[in-house]
Amino acid sequence: MTDTSEQDRVLIFDTTLRDGEQSPGATMTHDEKLEIAAMLDEMGVDIIEAGFPIASEGDFEAVRDIARQSRNSVICGLSRANPKDIDRAWEAVKHSARPRIHTFIGTSPLHRDITKLTQDEMAERIHETVTHARNLCDNVQWSPMDATRTEHDYLCRVVEIAIKAGATTINIPDTVGYTAPRESADLIRMLIEKVPGADEIVFATHCHNDLGMATANALAAVEAGARQIECTINGLGERAGNTALEEVVMALKVRHDIMPYDTGIDTTKIMGLSRKVAAVSGFPVQYNKAIVGKNAFAHESGIHQDGVLKNAETFEIMKPEDIGLSATNLVMGKHSGRAALRAKMKELGHDLADNQLNDVFVRFKALADRKKEVYDDDLLALMRDSAADE
Ligand code: KIV
Ligand code: ZN
Repeated sequence: MTDTSEQDRVLIFDTTLRDGEQSPGATMTHDEKLEIAAMLDEMGVDIIEAGFPIASEGDFEAVRDIARQSRNSVICGLSRANPKDIDRAWEAVKHSARPRIHTFIGTSPLHRDITKLTQDEMAERIHETVTHARNLCDNVQWSPMDATRTEHDYLCRVVEIAIKAGATTINIPDTVGYTAPRESADLIRMLIEKVPGADEIVFATHCHNDLGMATANALAAVEAGARQIECTINGLGERAGNTALEEVVMALKVRHDIMPYDTGIDTTKIMGLSRKVAAVSGFPVQYNKAIVGKNAFAHESGIHQDGVLKNAETFEIMKPEDIGLSATNLVMGKHSGRAALRAKMKELGHDLADNQLNDVFVRFKALADRKKEVYDDDLLALMRDSAADE
């Protein structure tokens, strides 16, 4: 990667349909997966991990059909480190104009204990399986699962083997969400410095959110040289989830001044995808979720509402339209002030004179004390009462 524009471009790898779907209870139907994949493709996601083809016939068919329908994105299928899995992944993704095989094995001592492979035996397995994948497909991603708890010497050794066997992307998973930003950056920097051939491939970061640091860890890895972020819509994923696509993409957009890396994402599609994934997975988005939560662009307190009405930048660091929302949401409650009430009433078609506004405002405050949120219909009813008492 020598060209500067290439160096500043971060690839977005979406795994909502694979790691996201692994969330207990988040199973999606074949048609729902195809619909989400089409939306991801249109949004500009560089790589869609469409599923784990060996896992079931349904997974295989979904990956195959996504590979057939997608126009722009690379379509990737996951496989464990054995030829049967890899062949099955290839059978599914080969229908794409841009197929990728992703193969992985757990490299940390805990995982080596489970597979009962010595370091040398595992190194040999990695060589064989990456070579096998590369003989089928010229776009191969390899992941040392639990990389952040793997001994550094061993990690360097196996990454080098995978590169020599033909891997074109090396993904460094923080499988259990254990790392922290500085460590995440140091690990990528160490691999880039120490592993021969590291400058020929793309390093990816794959973070889980067990300690709530997935977004910070992914961005730290990018600052250290990773050029692919693995993420999911709404941060869906096993346990506390994966890095949220909307968070890393908007962080890179809003703080481009200090993180000058570009993605190819059309951010105006974010909200539509968030709603779609929430609906089909059955996992609602928490109200205060960054970027896509119901309250992310909502303001209730009088000071905030007044500020936002005068200049949105006072309390908003991004525009609602940037993520595909039509407008800032002024939530009317007991903390709201006169300026917000005037603006809200105007939105509802009533341009109030000062004396009318004063009257409706008194009624509104009395109601807001009894009710958590005052809805548009409540306000219209207050308007009618005020007009009737005149
Ligand atoms: O978290 C993880 O380690 C994974 C791998 C399969 C890449 O999802
Ligand atoms: Zn994962």
